Amino acid sequence: MFLGLDIGTSAIKAVLVDDAQSVVATAETPLAISRPQPGFSEQNPEDWWQATLSSIDKLKAEKPQALAAVRGVGLSGQMHGAVLLDKAGAVLRPAILWNDGRSSAECRELEERFPALHRVAGNLAFPGFTAPKLLWVRKHEPEIFARMAKVLLPKAYVGYRLTGEMVEEMSDASGTLWLDVARRDWSDEALAATYMSRENMPRLVEGSAAAGRLMPELAARWGMTTPPVLAGGAGDNAAGAIGLGAIKAGNAFVSLGTSGVLWATTDRYAPNPESSVHAFCHAIPATWHQMGVILSAASALGWWSNVAQQTPGDLLAPLGAAPQAPSKAIFLPYLSGERTPHNDTKIRATFAELDHDATRETMTQAVLEGVAFAFKDCLDALGAAGTRLSEADVIGGGSRSRFWIAVLASVLGLPLNRIEDGERGGAFGAARLARMAATGEAPADICLPPRRIETIEPDPALQQAYAERHALYRALYPALKGVTS
Ligand code: XUL
Repeated sequence: MFLGLDIGTSAIKAVLVDDAQSVVATAETPLAISRPQPGFSEQNPEDWWQATLSSIDKLKAEKPQALAAVRGVGLSGQMHGAVLLDKAGAVLRPAILWNDGRSSAECRELEERFPALHRVAGNLAFPGFTAPKLLWVRKHEPEIFARMAKVLLPKAYVGYRLTGEMVEEMSDASGTLWLDVARRDWSDEALAATYMSRENMPRLVEGSAAAGRLMPELAARWGMTTPPVLAGGAGDNAAGAIGLGAIKAGNAFVSLGTSGVLWATTDRYAPNPESSVHAFCHAIPATWHQMGVILSAASALGWWSNVAQQTPGDLLAPLGAAPQAPSKAIFLPYLSGERTPHNDTKIRATFAELDHDATRETMTQAVLEGVAFAFKDCLDALGAAGTRLSEADVIGGGSRSRFWIAVLASVLGLPLNRIEDGERGGAFGAARLARMAATGEAPADICLPPRRIETIEPDPALQQAYAERHALYRALYPALKGVTS
């Protein structure tokens, strides 16, 4: 039996997976985000820990014997967040999260202080990433920076509470801007550019390797006679990839979660920072990946559902199973700025091309299409980085909508697979990493693909119509930027 934990932004999810890779039980505890100032996004690490305990306690209440039989624990985590600890391991301030936009000025400063950053770290300096956050803390909260002894990513903090050891793995470490992504090691130069050193960093392991063992008192709490191994784990997207079996070059998926991700596995380090593509390590050895990230995907539909005062299900029902023609309206989904391809924290969302005939359905379809156009920008950015895709799986909450996948297939011009358990998320992949760390089994033997329910092919007529709409969508961003910033 293996336990996967996903340290998400909206919830901590726990899943028990048996030796035949069937999910035996799941539990979830919700989390809140605090936004103390516009553009800020924070969570209290203690809340992650309490919600982790509560999720595992729920599994104990439901399946005590299965939980007691756990041999390995794996972590998946929201990426990029900064948890600052003092010498005694106490948290110094709320964690600054992946969707926090406060450190734009510090991104420029970082790129000036370390001109080789793009080559070494494989990425532009994005305000969501970890390193610029530390420059911000140094500038705005110098007394906290002075007391900071270690910086951990969210899941490494939970790992520390589980095992007493501070350990990080390559996929999540890639999102800090402190990792030399080709060499899979901390970069002393990148750390120095934020007035830090290796001393401030946790030890590095591969995601599928052992990082420690559960503390004996926690093992006893959950009825385990031998404390299980904790695997290095993975950033949430890499964990999702492990869950989908996306471990070979060319494997791809679209994640329609709160944020959106277009992922492609690569067998080498292949950066292209100019188009805001991320080039990161995968969670298994000698494997990398590229991804384009959009900040509002399913959350754009969530926002529209609040405004329209209808559940997403009620909004989607009248649209049917596939679009007949593009919406007459266009939506730019930049509700909290955009990462790929614009790297712009200031831009905001907009509807365009509304006329008197526009209905709620027109606008709902425009929201879904706007997110699909944002993914098309990611596909083009990956293309500029040398990656050609031939198909992709679709996962995340938004994958419940066949209509949305059909829109995406025609906008991207790619066959898209609806898969069984598409909302399983990072926790399942984390349980697979736990198994590899506990048993030493090879990734190719464990990371099998999910069952595909249906492959939705692009519709050639719609593809043409969407290509024209996408050109208009592309033209709207510079126009909007020109008048708003
Ligand atoms: C990836 C990213 C998001 C978060 C969401 O770069 O910022 O996918 O990991 O949890």
